[in-house]
Amino acid sequence: MTQTIQPVYNFNAGPSALPAAVLEKAQKELINFRGTGMSVMELSHRSKPYEEVHNQAIERLKKLYSIPENYEVLFIQGGASLQFSMVPINFLQTGKKAGYVMTGVWSEKAFAEAERLGDAYQVASTETDKHNRIPNLNELNYNEDDAYLHITTNNTIYGTQWKDYPDTGNVPLIADMSSDIMSKPIDVSKFALIYAGTQKNLGPSGVTVVIIRKDLLEKANPDNPTILKYATHAKNNSLYHTPPTFGIYMLGEVLGWIEECGGLEAVTQRNEEKAKLIYDVIDNSDGFYRGHAELESRSLMNITFRLADEALEKKFLAEAKDAGFVGLNGHRSVGGCRASAYNAVPVEACKALSEFMIQFQQNNH
Ligand SMILES: Cc1ncc(COP(=O)(O)O)c(C=O)c1O
Repeated sequence: MTQTIQPVYNFNAGPSALPAAVLEKAQKELINFRGTGMSVMELSHRSKPYEEVHNQAIERLKKLYSIPENYEVLFIQGGASLQFSMVPINFLQTGKKAGYVMTGVWSEKAFAEAERLGDAYQVASTETDKHNRIPNLNELNYNEDDAYLHITTNNTIYGTQWKDYPDTGNVPLIADMSSDIMSKPIDVSKFALIYAGTQKNLGPSGVTVVIIRKDLLEKANPDNPTILKYATHAKNNSLYHTPPTFGIYMLGEVLGWIEECGGLEAVTQRNEEKAKLIYDVIDNSDGFYRGHAELESRSLMNITFRLADEALEKKFLAEAKDAGFVGLNGHRSVGGCRASAYNAVPVEACKALSEFMIQFQQNNH
């Protein structure tokens, strides 16, 4: 019996859409990976074919982001949430403070861990504005002798994104880039450490990418448990223990797909085009749709909006679901609606959503 499959538009916030071409390639290679007679999941992590996969993912990251020589690329497990602890465990030593810029739930979680482990303080917060904006760079009054300054470059729940990053001089800038890593070119040299879970822009869940400046490795507390030291992972090319091999394979393939798309410039252009399709509907809706974020802080990754009341939002989400749109509910902590248009979400999906939104407004105004 043939089955008709309705097209699904995946706007999940993470785990989220993966490039169809990558999934197809992974499917093709699944049973017999490049002539090894087994799948990539069954290879020893010490074998040559896996080593090639591992190193290719690192090389592709370095190339796409033009990562300078004095940085290491690491693959760690435990998600961005482990980084919330690992960063202060390594770098928040007695006698120093760490500044946190509070732009949403994830910064709060990162800050809470740092507070538990050492002396952390809030450099700026947008809480009173319901986290609808990114602070101006001149609002960031951190101390010149701080251990580090921590920011969340894209706020997945509120739909705000940093457009410029502060020049922090001697204060190491540490960024949670979980929801906008590899969505645009960045100047890596502005950061001392970048971390991101792969499950939004880079592959399935299970891998955390860490890009760390080498001099920081020496500054870390030497008395930490071995597995929690960045130096352990750096010394062993992220093979100190068994890495999430399938996730790293998928990461490498997603990075290869970004290269094939024309690199980060082309990806940014596409992301801008996609987000514009939806923001334009919001802006031209005479207030029927209300964007949460201030214009200049709008995220290209997570587009958050509300309708007149909860009943209308419920209707919108129900009809959207029936029409094949998945993942449009806002985060459970804030409600409303959210379309996550990460790298792998096709332009057609955003076009279809924008048309659905226009139609829904016409039917319900
Ligand atoms: C910005 C940001 N930071 C951290 C996290 C937590 O990541 P993980 O679930 O990988 O620990 C998320 C998850 O959505 C996120 O969006």
